[in-house]
Amino acid sequence: MPPMRILVTGGAGYIGSVTTATLLARGHDVVVLDDLRTGHRAAVPDGATFVHADVADRAVVETTLAAHDADAIVHFAASSLVGESMRDPMAYFGNNAAGSIHLLEAARAVGVDRFVFSSTAALYGTPDDVPIPETAELRPESVYGASKLAVERVLDWLSRTTPFGAIALRYFNAAGATDALGEDHRPETHLVPIVLQAAAGRRDEVRIYGDDYPTPDGTAIRDYVHVADLAEAHALAVEAATPGRFEAYNLGSGVGYSVREVIDTVREVTDRDVPSRVDARRAGDPPRLVADASKVAAALGWAPRHSDLHAIVASAWAWHQAHPDGYADRP
Ligand code: UFG
Repeated sequence: MPPMRILVTGGAGYIGSVTTATLLARGHDVVVLDDLRTGHRAAVPDGATFVHADVADRAVVETTLAAHDADAIVHFAASSLVGESMRDPMAYFGNNAAGSIHLLEAARAVGVDRFVFSSTAALYGTPDDVPIPETAELRPESVYGASKLAVERVLDWLSRTTPFGAIALRYFNAAGATDALGEDHRPETHLVPIVLQAAAGRRDEVRIYGDDYPTPDGTAIRDYVHVADLAEAHALAVEAATPGRFEAYNLGSGVGYSVREVIDTVREVTDRDVPSRVDARRAGDPPRLVADASKVAAALGWAPRHSDLHAIVASAWAWHQAHPDGYADRP
């Protein structure tokens, strides 16, 4: 695959920054476009050009794509909190659905026809069966999931009606870190960083949202996938996107762990106490989400190489130890 010139939206965010580093390491040329609403300037890897802008700013996006003679777009920029999406639905349909449409208009205006989209397991809602294949019914239970499904539909129809090739990657639970790049959300809502903060004494306790689920230990089960594995999948996808085709792939390890198992793993890795207390279920949390990721294995040859839970937690702990204040301590 000859090197491509790729626009990464949201490349200052968690998965976007790691993907940018992976694309650069594979020899591609990367321009990151991010409005830094939730991303961090310090997370943008050296070697990438940075443009401070919103994806909905069509004039800037068009100029950027044209100036860099872009071949492809990898689109991460989005609002991604399920709970917040239910409190502010228009913000989510605006940023995620309308924002993507503006980006796609710019792409079409300058003839960029390869697109990789950051999608989510939230499309499946509460599945009938796990592991979940891509053919499972799509019935999101949150505005966040609905806003991502709307974009998948647009990409599917564009690929049928125009010479446009798109791949949607439906992530399960992203976690872990590389040496340089890790997870720093404000506020933090994700389980692995929250448990690590409790282990580090930066948070009093972990609240376990429900221990009365129909699972072996009563806590909810998720499929944790290493951010470096997700990044590699994006590189394979952008290199494989084919004009006139839309494909959606699950990205997960295929193995599920309960909230209690995550806490136990953090205790093992850190050798620290993790105070925890059982709290009420969080609205909208399905009991069990585990990916069937066989489609992407067959199509793109992707296999998760770092997604053993112990390795995920160890990498995230190393990053937290090196950067206790996340990106706040870096210019
Ligand atoms: N959890 C706790 N305590 C916490 C935080 C989380 O018990 O303090 C539990 C949750 O209830 C859930 C599990 O840990 O059972 C994982 O929660 P996360 O918030 O880390 O992740 P989610 O599974 O809720 O969310 C992920 C992605 C979303 C995506 C969603 C699809 O982060 O982008 O899966 O359901 F929409």
